[in-house]
Order: sequence, then structure tokens, then C-alpha cells
Amino acid sequence: MAIIDVIKDDITRLDVDAIVNAANSRLAGGGGVDGAIHRAAGPELPVACRDIGGCPTGEAVITAGFLLPAKHIIHTVGPVYRGGHRNEPELLANCYRNSMLLAAQNNVSTIAFPNISTGIYGYPKEEAARIAISEVKKFMDENTTPQRVIFVCFDDENYQIYSSVLS
Ligand code: APR
Repeated sequence: MAIIDVIKDDITRLDVDAIVNAANSRLAGGGGVDGAIHRAAGPELPVACRDIGGCPTGEAVITAGFLLPAKHIIHTVGPVYRGGHRNEPELLANCYRNSMLLAAQNNVSTIAFPNISTGIYGYPKEEAARIAISEVKKFMDENTTPQRVIFVCFDDENYQIYSSVLS
């Protein structure tokens, strides 16, 4: 049975099959959740990212979790929000769909997502939450894996938005 949960936590602490990183297209590490994941995963993560080379906006790649409790990290690159008429909604939906697809291909049964693009990349939080939830629900309606999705909110505002959109 498909399960969707919302929690308020630091995604790097979660002992799940895969956590998703809100990366940049060079997979070079950065601030926000990307910085937290790189710090917690340790020095082998940038090496693995360099070997992959990069990831276009809306797509996703997978690495090991290294020193994280999570087994895998799925790195996806959200769109920078520039007003909403530059394909941002489609690109953000692609991040969720492609991350779910990569998770399914790697037998990930539980996957945790941060609120992609809603930090440094400036995506309005409620619009982003609606896209995230509808894309994940659509995928779970059509596929049996992953069985459980956890939306991990770091700030109160996103936690309130996700809780109300999902209820
Ligand atoms: N756990 C969960 N969520 C977190 C954590 C954490 N440890 N740290 C930050 N967040 C949340 C933020 O509160 C925000 O809601 O992740 C969400 C996404 O914010 P950013 O990390 O700023 O990601 P994004 O907006 O997609 O920008 C990506 O930032 O760090 C760079 O390299 C990254 O260039 C890329 C850009």
C-alpha cells in the first residue's frame, strides 16, 4: 500500500533506502540541503559526483549514501524560479518523476524528498508543494515501488503547507 508522510526533520538523519538531494547541475555541492548532505556523507561523495560529471535540470542521478544512514542519494536539479513562465513547473515535476523512476529502478522502497527548489532557487513554496505532491501521487498510482514517500520539511512554513495540501 502506498504511504505518504510529512515530517519536520534534517533529511541527513534519516535511515531510509534513499534520500533526494536538491543539487546543482555540476553536482558540485553547495549550501542548503546539498551542503548538509555533502558534509554528512563524507569525502567519497564529491568523488562519485565528479565521476558522474553533471546532471541537467529536471533529471536525476544516483550515488551511494556513503557515511549517511541512507543507502542511496538521488541527486536531482530543480529549476531556478524566474517568474514561473520559463518551464519551471514542468522542470520541477520532472525532478520528482525522474527521482521516483530512478528509485524504482534501484528497488528503493522508502524515499525521502526535501522541498526541492524552495530555498536558494526561490520557488514559491505552496506552488512547489502542489507539484511535488501531485507528481508523487501520480507515480505511486501507476507503480508499486517506492512504497513509501516521506516529504521532509526543514522550515515550519513548508511543514504547514505540506500538511494542509495533503489533508
Ligand atoms: N534537511 C532537509 N531540508 C533542508 C535541509 C536539511 N538538512 N537544509 C535545508 N533544507 C531545505 C530548505 O529549507 C529548503 O526548503 O531544503 C529546501 C531546498 O532548499 P535549498 O537547499 O536551498 O535547495 P534549492 O532551493 O533547490 O537550491 C539548490 O542550492 O545548495 C545549493 O548546490 C545547491 O545550487 C543548488 C541550490
